[in-house]
Amino acid sequence: ADLRALNTFGVAARAPWLVDVAHASMLPAAFASAPMAEGAPLVLGGGSNILFVDAPPGPVLRLSGTAIRVLADDDEDVRLYADAGVEWHALVMRALDDGFTGLENLALIPGTVGAAPIQNIGAYGVEVGECIDAVQVFEPATGLALRLPREACAFAYRDSLFKREPSRYVVTGVEFRLQRNGAPNLSYAGLGDELAARGIASPTARDVSNAVIAIRRRKLPDPSVIGNAGSFFKNPIVPAARAEELAAAHARLPVFPAGQGLAKLSAAWLIDNCGLRGYRSGDAGVSAGHALVLVNHGGATGRELLDVARHVASVVRERHGVGLEPEPRMVGASWLPD
Ligand code: EPU
Repeated sequence: ADLRALNTFGVAARAPWLVDVAHASMLPAAFASAPMAEGAPLVLGGGSNILFVDAPPGPVLRLSGTAIRVLADDDEDVRLYADAGVEWHALVMRALDDGFTGLENLALIPGTVGAAPIQNIGAYGVEVGECIDAVQVFEPATGLALRLPREACAFAYRDSLFKREPSRYVVTGVEFRLQRNGAPNLSYAGLGDELAARGIASPTARDVSNAVIAIRRRKLPDPSVIGNAGSFFKNPIVPAARAEELAAAHARLPVFPAGQGLAKLSAAWLIDNCGLRGYRSGDAGVSAGHALVLVNHGGATGRELLDVARHVASVVRERHGVGLEPEPRMVGASWLPD
């Protein structure tokens, strides 16, 4: 199967087998099928956080179920279930239509519901882990369907149990805990600015999602126009003392607290400061609009994008002494040159 249309970088890659499963109850049979004997499957959602440097060695598995169900609704708190195959943004809109709040800051993130807990998607002050009650999974080793409560998922910045142990579970669905008319989260400064610019003093959840959508459209390249996978690097977390040194040298460097003795730096700023925004090598490059996003100008291969990423990281390391780690999953290569 040709994977070019199934990854938002739009790079060419072929999968030896593509297995589509419409319902979680069909996973035991799917795992018993011939292609699955060829190795652990790569589970693919919207393909918006993956870089194919090479073809996946085994089968590619997709979950196509798109059911959404209200599990409980008791005036204040709401529990909402969605199948892994639901498009993430569609879920955010559905929740808002039903008057459920909590997901509005995460509007317009590409990808599927099943992928959301894996890298613990986050934007504009909210991480999805905060809104998750439980993740429903299939465990191939035992053939069991399990329900993992939030505390079992080890959610952290762009990280989770599922990211650390990629083949242990297949995420089949997610249970969210949302509110009716919860207070909006305006902790991200740019969000308040956007709302103020729109003359909105007490924003509804819908106002927040509209503001987020506007910011994203303005800042981030649209994958349907130019191939990309959102932020390519995580914002690096460094010892607070190191962050202070850097901030003393660069007054404009954004620095955020990140827990005991740690600080999170803006990777975009570091890359931009090295003059790499808009950098291009062939068809692989750094977005001219946002320095944290790598883009495929047309015919870039996964290898060429990886080479650009390594170049960016090595320039930043040389200039600022800070290491960058990629955010998307990489297939067919590891980050550090082998
Ligand atoms: N900046 C630059 N140059 C640029 C872009 C940004 O200097 O080209 C500086 C600016 O000072 C800006 C700051 O970087 O204020 C932060 O930029 P932005 O608000 O876009 O946030 P980010 O830290 O670059 C993170 C997430 C995004 C998420 C935004 C908003 C990561 C790796 N990325 O980006 O998530 O949308 O915050 O919350 O944490 C993604 O994961 O794919 C993604 C897009």
